[in-house]
Amino acid sequence: MAKKRLAVFISGNGTNLNVILERKTELQSLLVICNNPRAYGIERAKEHGVPFWVLEKPIPWDSLHERLEKENLDGIFLAGFMKVIPAEFVKKWQGKMFNLHPSLLPHYKGLNSIERAFEDGADIGVSIHYVTAEVDAGEVLLQDIAVPSHQIPTMSLEEATTKTHECEHRLVGKWMDQWL
Ligand code: GAR
Repeated sequence: MAKKRLAVFISGNGTNLNVILERKTELQSLLVICNNPRAYGIERAKEHGVPFWVLEKPIPWDSLHERLEKENLDGIFLAGFMKVIPAEFVKKWQGKMFNLHPSLLPHYKGLNSIERAFEDGADIGVSIHYVTAEVDAGEVLLQDIAVPSHQIPTMSLEEATTKTHECEHRLVGKWMDQWL
């Protein structure tokens, strides 16, 4: 089967992007799109010689869609992209756009998911799901527990966060195995 073309949207550090960058030879093409000109993820893309686009403010969603169409993408992966994507844009990519979220969806949608689950003493985990117009609500494709609730009393929030990020990196790898 032909190799696929992927765009990864990021806003920050890009540790999950890094999992994909490390496997870029398995892709036909890889493009990084970032809404934050100071994001460390841009440095990661540069190190791997992967093209990146820095988005203007406010994000010109219509022209972005047109530019992305020209790339003949097979998929878009949101790896820590912290902007809500307008429904119109989502509709155009529905079924081809995936999001990584640091909780066991449908629990703890939105921001500060790890902190909120930790404070509640609930299982902390990671999900990868299809993106739909409603935030963090599309069908879940992959999910894993990073910290089971019974371990939370023995752990600091920092430790739980580290374990969650490690779990994310594993899950992004699994998503690639499945999607490629
Ligand atoms: C990750 O924890 C990801 O799950 C989260 O942002 C972080 C990005 O880390 N995404 C969301 O919260 C989306 N709602 P990274 O830049 O090191 O990959």
